[in-house]
Amino acid sequence: MNILLLGSGGREHALAWKIAGSPLTDKLFCAPGNAGIAREAECVALDIAEHAAVIAFCRAQNIDFVVVGPEAPLCAGIVDDLEIAGIKAFGPSKAAAQLEGSKGFTKDLCRANNIPTAAYERFTAPEPAKDYARQQGAPIVVKADGLAAGKGVVVAMTVDEATAAIDMMFGGELGAAGAEVVVEEFLEGEEASFFALCDGTTAIAFASAQDHKRVFDGDKGPNTGGMGAYSPAPIMTPDMTQRVMDEIIHPTMRAMAAMGAPFKGVLFAGLMITRDGPKLIEYNARFGDPETQVLMLRMMSDILPALLASRDGMLKNFDLRWYGDAALTVVMAANGYPGAYDKGSVIEGLDEAGAVEGVEIFHAGTKAEGGKILAIGGRVLNVTATAKTVAEAQALAYQAVDRIRWPGGFCRRDIGWRAVEREQAKG
Ligand code: AMP
Ligand code: GLY
Repeated sequence: MNILLLGSGGREHALAWKIAGSPLTDKLFCAPGNAGIAREAECVALDIAEHAAVIAFCRAQNIDFVVVGPEAPLCAGIVDDLEIAGIKAFGPSKAAAQLEGSKGFTKDLCRANNIPTAAYERFTAPEPAKDYARQQGAPIVVKADGLAAGKGVVVAMTVDEATAAIDMMFGGELGAAGAEVVVEEFLEGEEASFFALCDGTTAIAFASAQDHKRVFDGDKGPNTGGMGAYSPAPIMTPDMTQRVMDEIIHPTMRAMAAMGAPFKGVLFAGLMITRDGPKLIEYNARFGDPETQVLMLRMMSDILPALLASRDGMLKNFDLRWYGDAALTVVMAANGYPGAYDKGSVIEGLDEAGAVEGVEIFHAGTKAEGGKILAIGGRVLNVTATAKTVAEAQALAYQAVDRIRWPGGFCRRDIGWRAVEREQAKG
């Protein structure tokens, strides 16, 4: 088959690596891709916001299947447009992608279907939102309704912080995403990233994973897109996985189908595992980044039949198999991230780093120029390793990190700490 993958991050590099390894793949293209993806796929300079251009490319290159990585094209309806043009595509329709595109939509769906989530209210003006925040008291969480590239959530430790966040969002700093705001209860517990492959009716759980959202060691500093991940996540016991499927994923699938927007693709639930059980923090309508980097290394099954079965509504009786080994990925980011950062610094030592046994380096924001690899994004590299335990995978990943010569970048030094502590406690 001829496949077109859309996106340019570390998630897409991991997907490209896995799809390129499928015996079903004849030719893999990626738009726009990056310097690492270019090793697995032919990168094409398409603007993926231009659906007509993507469709024209698919026709010209006889593309059989399009795999969409990021949320923006999904929420803009690229799967609908491709399917109308007769091109098969993996991912949710625009209507189903509202689970990520509108926090208010998802919160209302939870309320109507008894899906456990933080108590909340929706607001279209600042004063009632502030009144509600004052009434509820801090800590409290303020969220922009729409897509805000990870910047739309403020966990306010004081009421003043909450009211400032409400003013910021309604003040237009996040554009249209902040025209509506959700104010919700602060949840206490441990977070986990939960992925289910869905075909509109059936949902199959992926292996578990945990992300590290904060920029600095010890989970300090501002939120980012994710500074590292590992799999499996010990907190997701088989019992907890079953509860998430029964209490959160399946009711969501039934509700989406009932409203005529069946969910196909990867449903990514950000969870808080609280004393009362799992609660939904938010949905994403796509693979996670950097969780996908560890999940692809652990996936034993060929991914393409699974993605095709999702698109075709054929996941019933489907089975996904995983390697028992653990995987861990360390994100290397440009100095300054998640704030303003420099572009164009040179990265060296990638071959030496990639030569560490069990290590795979996925590129996120890179570009090849004049025989050099340049950093051109915030999150730039994902140094990923597999081993028998999370602790061993962590050691290998940092061994590889230490071979990379890139003064313009940094990483956290404690990725995987929760799992490593649990492994040590077990002996
Ligand atoms: P989101 O973009 O909705 O995943 O939120 C980003 C991060 O904010 C989450 O990963 C959590 O760490 C935190 N967060 C969001 N909602 C809540 C909540 N209701 N209670 C506690 N933390 C939250
Ligand atoms: N790692 C979190 C995300 O992909 O949104």
